[in-house]
Amino acid sequence: MSLFEINLVESNVYKENFDVLVACTDTLDFLKTIPDKSVELIVSSPPYNIGKAYESRKKFKEYLDFQKKVIEECYRVLKDNGNFCWEVGNYIEKGEVYPLDIYYYDIFKFDLGMKLRNRIIWHFGHGLHAKKRFSGRYETILWFTKSDDYIFNLDPVRIPSKYPGKRHYKGAKKGQPSCNPKGKNPSDIWEIVANDFDTCLWDIPNVKANHPEKTIHPCQFPIELIERLVLALTNENGIVLDPFMGVGSALIAALLHNRKAIGIDKEEEYVSIAIQRINDLKNGKLKKRELGKPVYKPTGKEKVSQIPEEWKQNSLIRDLI
Ligand SMILES: C[S@@+](CC[C@H](N)C(=O)[O-])C[C@H]1O[C@@H](n2cnc3c(N)ncnc32)[C@H](O)[C@@H]1O
Repeated sequence: MSLFEINLVESNVYKENFDVLVACTDTLDFLKTIPDKSVELIVSSPPYNIGKAYESRKKFKEYLDFQKKVIEECYRVLKDNGNFCWEVGNYIEKGEVYPLDIYYYDIFKFDLGMKLRNRIIWHFGHGLHAKKRFSGRYETILWFTKSDDYIFNLDPVRIPSKYPGKRHYKGAKKGQPSCNPKGKNPSDIWEIVANDFDTCLWDIPNVKANHPEKTIHPCQFPIELIERLVLALTNENGIVLDPFMGVGSALIAALLHNRKAIGIDKEEEYVSIAIQRINDLKNGKLKKRELGKPVYKPTGKEKVSQIPEEWKQNSLIRDLI
């Protein structure tokens, strides 16, 4: 499938023959129409019940009960060798932190008998500054499989080795290079930027302090985060499903790598942005951060990485720095 030929189908019930199928409805209603064991990867970031614009805050238990129904329906449509990735952060009530993956783990493991393959830490370098606890700088992706025979392609997601010149120092291979020439396993800690605060140089005027992919959605995935999952956990032409697709980042990650995609969201505004982004992808106009672009490290020359002059002149502050 060339990107120009992507067959985009909009429908609130499952239909055959699509490259990307987009639904604007309640996720449970749509999921019920998908055939059993038809999807290769389910990847989503469910609502966190933290009072975002798109959610009415429910009692925590009520929230989890609904999510359990969604996960059960997703499990039904997942192929036996398929993968299920659930990306979550924390639910916070009256300053108390509830790590959502702990609660979700029980649903996947004990209610459905799935097996955890990785608990991936997605680390990002910025966000809200907490006042009465340490600032949160990671979310997790629980990657579960239905069986022991699951799709896992490591080679397409290997990253450059830190010391490719290392050699075996003993044994039969002594003196030979010890690294894999295709690169190393990216590990279970992923540093992929959520916003572009790390990549933009703030001392150059008119550079927007936003990620190139940013839309009005309050918590969209960086496409790059899902590309790595798509490449490792599906084969070409497999179907990727996001039951809470927001502005369609997971769908785009799938289409970019010649996979098919299904996405559902109940908010018309997000669905229309998702459709616009897919059309932009078809027309070569989609704004996107490159896969594997290193996270920007300040050199110390940027104005924002320098200690403000006022602090240096204030002796009280000077003693602290
Ligand atoms: C955390 S956001 C997902 C953002 C997405 N990963 C992206 O990249 O844009 C969760 C989404 O779930 C949607 N949502 C919440 N409850 C829903 C439901 N019952 N049915 C369908 N969508 C729902 C919200 O509108 C919201 O866009």
